[in-house]
Amino acid sequence: MANIVAGVATSHVPAVGAAIDNKRTEEPYWQPVFKGYEPSKKWIAEVKPDVVILVYNDHASAFSLELIPTFALGCAAEFPPADEGWGPRPVPTVQGQPELAWHIAQSLILDEFDITIVNKMEVDHGLTVPMSLMFGEVAEWPVKVIPLAVNVVQYPPPTGNRCFQLGKAIRRAVESFPQELKVVIFGTGGMSHQLQGPRAGLINKEFDARFLDRLVSDPQGLSKLPHVEYLREAGSEGVEMVMWLIMRGALDERVDEVYRFYHVPASNTAVGHIILQNT
Ligand SMILES: [Fe+2]
Repeated sequence: MANIVAGVATSHVPAVGAAIDNKRTEEPYWQPVFKGYEPSKKWIAEVKPDVVILVYNDHASAFSLELIPTFALGCAAEFPPADEGWGPRPVPTVQGQPELAWHIAQSLILDEFDITIVNKMEVDHGLTVPMSLMFGEVAEWPVKVIPLAVNVVQYPPPTGNRCFQLGKAIRRAVESFPQELKVVIFGTGGMSHQLQGPRAGLINKEFDARFLDRLVSDPQGLSKLPHVEYLREAGSEGVEMVMWLIMRGALDERVDEVYRFYHVPASNTAVGHIILQNT
């Protein structure tokens, strides 16, 4: 059967993608950020997953305000990088895993999670930046990817608990797929950041640290955190972190923390990253 062996959470800051694409990773401002992901690249090269389920949010690239799916699962064979205003990122087209994706779609819907099925979608920095951070600059991505886009852009986003429960349902779906596949699930976005309004630039290191701790040891309790708490403590875009709970829900109750990295600043966002493995 297919198996989820580990989870990765990481910020997906667009400026990180631009730093890679414009060859600025060695500049003093960016160097510490990329150094923080070196152990992660090594780790994932050793784990060698067949498939990554990549939980992220679209930033008005594939979906506009005309259509706002809460959970959208990518079932296509490929997902080209989106043009976000500066041309598409010069990264490989993401190869999907339609067989597993359709199986997950069926399992989730019969499990009463009514997700949207997407058969054509471009993917923006929310998905491609985590790919670059974990796999580096490559001619082809070394894994198949199943994108899961979550609405955290337009109110109302899903609750942390709904995300956590969805993670559990994704695990059930993956484990009922007969083919032998090693799967790693990514939760992306965050950490604390606010892009507009009087509090633009807000970073809350204490909240972020507590969030990471609880993600490891008290995910159930963390999943009950209300939206307003994310907004107040982690800024208006901090609510992206509910997506990390999908990743966490797909893992065992007790996990090993393989690696943690936190860095401020990166653009106007706190970069947070954690790797969790089933024991
Ligand atoms: Fe984002």
